[in-house]
Amino acid sequence: MTRLRLAVIGVGHLGKEHARILASLPDVELVGVADVNPEQAQTVARRCGTRAYSSYWPLLNLVDAACIAAPTCEHHAIGCEFLRRGLPVLIEKPLALNREQAEELVILARRHHTILQVGHIERFNPAFEELGRRPFQPKFVECHRLGPFTGRSTDIGAVLDLMIHDLDLLLHLVKGPVVAVEALGASIFGGEEDVAHARLTFANGCLANLTASRASAQPQRCMRLWGPEGYAKVDFARRRLTLVQPSERLRREGLDPRRLDPAARALLRDELYGKYLEVRELDCNGPGDQLTEELREFVRCVRTGASPRVPGEDGRDAVALAGRILEAIRGHRWEGRSDGATGPRQLPPPRGRLFASPDAEAAA
Ligand SMILES: NC(=O)c1ccc[n+]([C@@H]2O[C@H](COP(=O)([O-])OP(=O)(O)OC[C@H]3O[C@@H](n4cnc5c(N)ncnc54)[C@H](O)[C@@H]3O)[C@@H](O)[C@H]2O)c1
Repeated sequence: MTRLRLAVIGVGHLGKEHARILASLPDVELVGVADVNPEQAQTVARRCGTRAYSSYWPLLNLVDAACIAAPTCEHHAIGCEFLRRGLPVLIEKPLALNREQAEELVILARRHHTILQVGHIERFNPAFEELGRRPFQPKFVECHRLGPFTGRSTDIGAVLDLMIHDLDLLLHLVKGPVVAVEALGASIFGGEEDVAHARLTFANGCLANLTASRASAQPQRCMRLWGPEGYAKVDFARRRLTLVQPSERLRREGLDPRRLDPAARALLRDELYGKYLEVRELDCNGPGDQLTEELREFVRCVRTGASPRVPGEDGRDAVALAGRILEAIRGHRWEGRSDGATGPRQLPPPRGRLFASPDAEAAA
C-alpha cells in the first residue's frame, strides 16, 4: 500500500503530538511540519524524522492531506488553501473563529468533493462512546469544563476554546435546534472571556447549563445528564461513566415515602441505591488514546472517502452556537440597567476586597 503523504501545520502544544503520532503510523509518510516559529518546526521535525518548513505554502504541492493545528485565527486562511486544491484536511477545534468562516470551509470541501474533519477529540473519549451505545434521551444536561490558565489560545476566549467541546457533544446528543440562549462571561486576565456560563433550551425541551473556565485551580471535565432512562455522568478526564437507573420495582410500584411505616422509612437510606436505584460504574480506559484514534480515522477517511465521525458541518454548527453564546455574553447587563456595564470586559465596580491581600497591605 502506498503511504499517504501528510503534513502538520502548526506544531505547538498540540500539533507536535499530531506530528509524533502521524510519524509512527505505518501507512503514513509525514513529509513535513510547518510552523511560523522556525525553531519549533526544526525541533519537531528532528524528533519526527521529517522536514521543517517555516510556511505551509511549499507543502501544498507535496502532500495528499494535512492536519492544521495552528491557532484558531489561522484555521480559515490555511484550511481554504488546502481545500481549494481538493486536499483533505483535519482542522483542530474550533473549526474557525465564526460561523461565516466555518461555512466557507464546509462549502469549499463540498465543492471540491474532499474531506473536512474537525478535531472534536472528546467524541473519541471512550466514556462518551460508551454512553452513545445506550438508549438515552437527555432532558437536562450540566457541563463543567474547567482548567488553569495556560497562556495559550489567547486569540479566543473560554467559549471557543473550552465550551466548544461540550457544544459539539450536546448537539450530537440532543440533535435539534437551540431555541433560546442565555449567557454571561467575564474576562479575568484582561483579554477575551476566561469564564463563561450558558443556558441553552432545545426545541425538544432539553435544557443545558454549561460552565467553562480557564481560570480554575481545580481541573474538571464532566457532563451530567438526566433523562427518562436515568442519570449519567461522563468524567472525560478519568474516562469513567456512571449510570444510575430506577429498578424495575421502582418503575412498577413507585416509592411514596408517606405510605411507608417509620421502620421502612428508616431503611430507605440504606436500600435506596440497590433496591430502588441501580448504579453502574464503568471504567472505560482502554489501551488506545483519543488523538491516535482521531488521526487513524482521518487517514482511513482520506483513503476510502468515508465520512468522518466529526465532519465540517458539525464543526460549523458548534461554532455557530458558540457565536450565539458570545453574542449573549456581549449583551449581558450585569446590573440589569441599559446604561450599566455589559459584556465580558466591563464589570460593575467592586465594593471592596474579599480579604486583605499581601499586595494591598504592602501598598497601605
Ligand atoms: N482538540 C483539543 O482538545 C485541543 C487542545 C488544545 C488545542 N487545540 C486547538 O489546536 C490549535 C493549536 O493550539 P495549541 O495549544 O497547540 O497552540 P500553540 O500556540 O501551542 O501552537 C500553535 C502553533 O502554531 C504556530 N503557528 C501560528 N501561526 C501559524 C501559521 N500561519 N502557520 C503555521 N504555524 C503557525 C505557532 O508558532 C505555534 O507553534 C488551536 O486551534 C486550539 O484550539 C485543540
